[in-house]
Amino acid sequence: MLSRAGVGLRLPHLSEVVATRPPAGWLEIHPENFLANPHAFELLLQLAGDYPISVHTVGVSIGSASGVDWAHVARIRELIDLVNPVLVSGHLAWSTHRGEYLNDLLPLPYDDETLDLLAMHLHQVQDGLGRPFLVENPSSYFGFGTSTMTEVEFLGELVRRTGCRLLCDVSNVYVSSENLGYDARAYLDGLPAEAIGELHLGGFQSEDDPDAGTRVLVDTHDTAIADEAWRLYTYALRRFGPKPTLIEWDDDLPSFADLLDEATLASVLARQAAQGAPHVAR
Ligand SMILES: [Fe+2]
Repeated sequence: MLSRAGVGLRLPHLSEVVATRPPAGWLEIHPENFLANPHAFELLLQLAGDYPISVHTVGVSIGSASGVDWAHVARIRELIDLVNPVLVSGHLAWSTHRGEYLNDLLPLPYDDETLDLLAMHLHQVQDGLGRPFLVENPSSYFGFGTSTMTEVEFLGELVRRTGCRLLCDVSNVYVSSENLGYDARAYLDGLPAEAIGELHLGGFQSEDDPDAGTRVLVDTHDTAIADEAWRLYTYALRRFGPKPTLIEWDDDLPSFADLLDEATLASVLARQAAQGAPHVAR
């Protein structure tokens, strides 16, 4: 199942996908888009009969020091019980504090206190949702001086303590490795391969700061997947074996057919990696 790559389904493509049933391997949705839109929810239920659906939450803030919003978890549980998704995931981040929703996925220090908090929240979220929760590595723009472990060590310990699985966003690994100056392949080497349940690929942009003479990569999800990310994806496939792979595009959406083209390339690379063939040079 999910041997072909999936596509992130965004609301502007929803009517077209319902009407034409394009040959996507599977679809991933942000439940928050559908909980706020009853008509879209109806259409999603139609699609759930024809496609495997993955639910990727952006509002379950497992890193919030003030606790998880259980009313929101309950709403997602209702959607999950109707859609019966093949995967449920969210981010290693925080985005709410004392009921205030911040429109961003904010970073966490990697220390024992944060680990205890996230392990507790993950146990509770997995209980609340009634299924395993995949945790996605963030794209990073700075590190905390107070961190006492690397992100890879933090994620590995989270897996060990909670039995959660990991969603490895390969583009995020590339973005973070460039911004923070570490080896992206060594990062992938350090993750527990048996815990990887899904891979993401998305576009990013390079922004120059001429005054500082520096460059930062920004995880924008508004452009095609870069060659560097495709190469790292090939490495990830060899490291982890074939995994359900999603094409993520959120802003400045291209046609759904363009997204399917990227999904097809991901599927070809996964097949070649499974057969031990050299990857397509790009
Ligand atoms: Fe992602």
